[in-house]
Amino acid sequence: MESKKTVRVLKSAGEMQAAAEKLRHERKKIAVVPTMGYLHRGHASLIERAGSLADIVIVTVFVNPAQFAPNEDYARYPRDFEHDKAIIQAAGADIIFYPDVKEMYPDGFGSYVEVEKVTKILEGKFRPEHFKGVTTVVAKLLNITKPHAAVFGQKDAQQAFVIQKMIKDLNFDVQIILAPIVREEDGLAMSSRNSYLNEAERKNALVLFRSLQYAEKQIRQGEKSVELLREEMMKIILSGNPTQVDYTAFIDPVDFSETDNLNQSEILVALAVRFGTTRLIDNIIIPINS
Ligand code: PAJ
Repeated sequence: MESKKTVRVLKSAGEMQAAAEKLRHERKKIAVVPTMGYLHRGHASLIERAGSLADIVIVTVFVNPAQFAPNEDYARYPRDFEHDKAIIQAAGADIIFYPDVKEMYPDGFGSYVEVEKVTKILEGKFRPEHFKGVTTVVAKLLNITKPHAAVFGQKDAQQAFVIQKMIKDLNFDVQIILAPIVREEDGLAMSSRNSYLNEAERKNALVLFRSLQYAEKQIRQGEKSVELLREEMMKIILSGNPTQVDYTAFIDPVDFSETDNLNQSEILVALAVRFGTTRLIDNIIIPINS
């Protein structure tokens, strides 16, 4: 349903904090959806979920330089604020927090939030400073928007786990909600980075979901060998002519540890694969029949 209310855009942290404080005083329940913009239906689903939980929905739009390494795509990360604003408004949010880099990282900035251990595997192996940038900006965004709840996507499964760990370890008084992955009709997980893919890469990238579906089917049928599953998944992925397969990981969702054991109640299968210069991630949570 199209929303009629107009969304407010706030750019200063102080103004955003004052607005959030006023809303809290009025006993409004606030939910926040942190994003880096260039929004798609996956983001919209998070905003709608937030709307079902709270009186006021704040969407933050900020391409966070601290989570990109110097050799990564910060400068070319896609940006289109007017388009984002239209999506946010249609999804029914109330406020957009849209700071610039100086507002978030003024001269002299020097405090970071770092979650240990789990940030060193998978994404952390290939992007060593990435999660430090994510947890730092998310901590700042929570302090600025003062939400009761924050909605994140299962698309970035490790990020979601890391953020939940930060919330627990540092006693942030906010409820974290995880929303399922939204996919294109052909199965490709929606991502702002899909816009980098050329036609051939876009087609080839379908091997990601195909390999996850393969794992799901086999595990549901009782397959217990991670080694065998990984081998067959690799064949499917390689048929899409990737430039590099960073990892195919089997993870216990309870503690986010890599495992060969398919006897617990669920397994998370996560992938990171490069097509051309574009790095894509995807994952699936599969229930295990014992
Ligand atoms: P961004 O990549 O813009 O994603 C914002 C949120 O949307 C994340 O919680 C992400 O998991 C979710 N999301 C992305 N694609 C999705 C899809 N296809 N289906 C469902 N949810 C999806 O993740 C970030 O930004 C940043 O790291 C951030 C948390 C904002 C910190 O800078």
